[in-house]
Formats: sequence, C-alpha cells, structure tokens
Amino acid sequence: MNSSLAQIIEKDPANWRGKDMMNRTNWRASLTETHKYELKEAVEKAQSSKAALLSLEKCDFALPTLGPFLADLNTQLEGGPGFVVIEGLPALDYDENAGKTALWGVGLHMGEPAKQDGDGNLLHSVRDTGQKVDGSDNIRSYQTNDQLSFHNDGADVFLLFCLRDGKSGGMSRLVSSVAVFDELLKRRPDLAETLLQDYWFDTRGQRTDGARVEVMPVYHHHHGLLTANMKYRYIHTAQRFADVPRLTQNQRDALEMVQDIANEPDMVMEFTLNPGDILVANNYVTLHGRSAFEDWDEPDKRRHMLRLWLTIPNGRPLPQAFKGSRIYAEAYERRMER
Ligand SMILES: [Fe+2]
Repeated sequence: MNSSLAQIIEKDPANWRGKDMMNRTNWRASLTETHKYELKEAVEKAQSSKAALLSLEKCDFALPTLGPFLADLNTQLEGGPGFVVIEGLPALDYDENAGKTALWGVGLHMGEPAKQDGDGNLLHSVRDTGQKVDGSDNIRSYQTNDQLSFHNDGADVFLLFCLRDGKSGGMSRLVSSVAVFDELLKRRPDLAETLLQDYWFDTRGQRTDGARVEVMPVYHHHHGLLTANMKYRYIHTAQRFADVPRLTQNQRDALEMVQDIANEPDMVMEFTLNPGDILVANNYVTLHGRSAFEDWDEPDKRRHMLRLWLTIPNGRPLPQAFKGSRIYAEAYERRMER
C-alpha cells in the first residue's frame, strides 16, 4: 500500500508546504474593477427581486467576465493546490443581506450549494454565539470563538467570506492534508496506516435519521487520490457515547501527530482574512483551523464570516464510505448522477 500511495502523494499538486506557499502569490485572486462593477450590478438586481435569495439561480446573477473568472478557479481547487483567496469584494459597504447575496452569486458561478446542517440550511453565519461545543450535543465549532484545531468542512469546497473581522485573533490557518500525510508516512508509517482505518465521528445531532455517530477512516486512498476527512474535535466528542469503542493509543497518537505536523511552521500557512476576502478551499486536500479571537462590544463591528459549501463540477471521485454521510452525502450523490 505505502509505496504506491507514496508515489501518488509525491506527484500530487496539493502536496505543498506552507513556507513555500507563503512566498507565492498565485493563490490570491484579486477582482478587477470590471468584476467589482458586475458584482455590484448583480447584487443590486438580486436584492430588488421579489424572489427569496436562496431560490435565485446562476442565471439570475449576470457576471459576464467575473463568472468565467470564478469558474476557472475550480482548476486550482481540484487538480491544483486546493485553495484560493478571492480578494476585493466591497464587504464594508455590505450589510448582512448584501453580503449573503454577493456570496450566493459568487458561489453559483463556481458550483452547486450543499446543505450544511440537518435542517438543510445552505448559508451559515460563522460568528460567536456565546455557546460552547463541550457540554452540548449539537453546538458546532463555527458557532463559538474557540481556537479551532485542524479539520475540514463538508461538501467539496467551502467558501468563507469575511464581512467583518474581530477585535483581535482569529487568524486563518491552512495546511495541505496531503503534505501532512506525506510527512507522517515518512516519519511514522504505522500511524499513517492507522488513519486509513475506521474512526468514529460525532455527527453533532445533524443527521436527519438521528444517528449520533458515523464510522469511516480519516484518510482514504481512492481512485488514485488521497482524500481526507479530519474532524479531530468530533472524533474526541464521540467518546462521550458509551457504545462507541474507546480510541486506541495508536489512534490517539495518529490524531495528535496530524495536529502536530500541521502546526509546524514549515507546514502551515497563517494569514488574516480581511473584510472582502473569500477563502475557498477543497476539503479533501486541505485542513483549516483558526486561532481564538476576541470580539468588539458593538454588535455591528463583531467578527462575522459567511459560509457556503459547494460541490464543484470537476470534483474528484469519492470513496464509498462517504455515501450517506452527514456532510458528504450530497457530493457523493451528485457524482453518481454525472
Ligand atoms: Fe471549518
């Protein structure tokens, strides 16, 4: 297994180190004045429409040059480094509704929105609600101001649009999950092997069938690709259920080592998302995290990100284990329909 997987990883364009990537600028995609004008017109038209925002389709957002520019970014998300930061949206001019409208329009030109929770919501606000994951069954990390360990989201890609940044902290952290596995394979091949086997994941009460846990590996070697599903925190919170098998020492060590490698200065990228930036990243080849943040007292200045999950037209084949899963089922089904 390991020799063929090592060859795949070596050639994977998503196998990058943070220290190299921080010296490059090709992951920044800045909007031109023409793009900004097109978006402004499209947002105003959508807002003046009587239709509900989430019923609007791609054809309702006419973006003659911005649309193809956004669609082209998918080649960086799949088959490239796996992420991009779109810069230059006029976020400080936007209220929440305008921000949602802009993100929805941008997203429709890149892919198809996917559900982010058991209620089927397609747009989430990422902000501190004052609630905590620990001691609850359904609060999720994006609703807190906690430091977030390295993890991935659902669907193929996530878009995180910064409307307002907080008072301090909240740095975005991004690492290649392929590079992390590459290092693990070289340093501790036994732990790399462990991550290719089943773990139990807390579903945070978001499955419509009520299942509290899902079982699947953290890393999947499928169709000549390495595909990650890392939920460090939710693997640990699943341990509160008596009927979930206790994590073995090997399983714990493997999870810790992923976090440790991901945190190494050579591996990780750390940057601030400013108002007007959208971080877009492929969940299968990148892990993201965030430092804890402190917020302003004034409600309208508080840190506020908008999040969209998409399946993209050039998305990779997905492992069978993703079928019916809480956050990948839609991506899996849409792949089957092609
Ligand atoms: Fe996340």
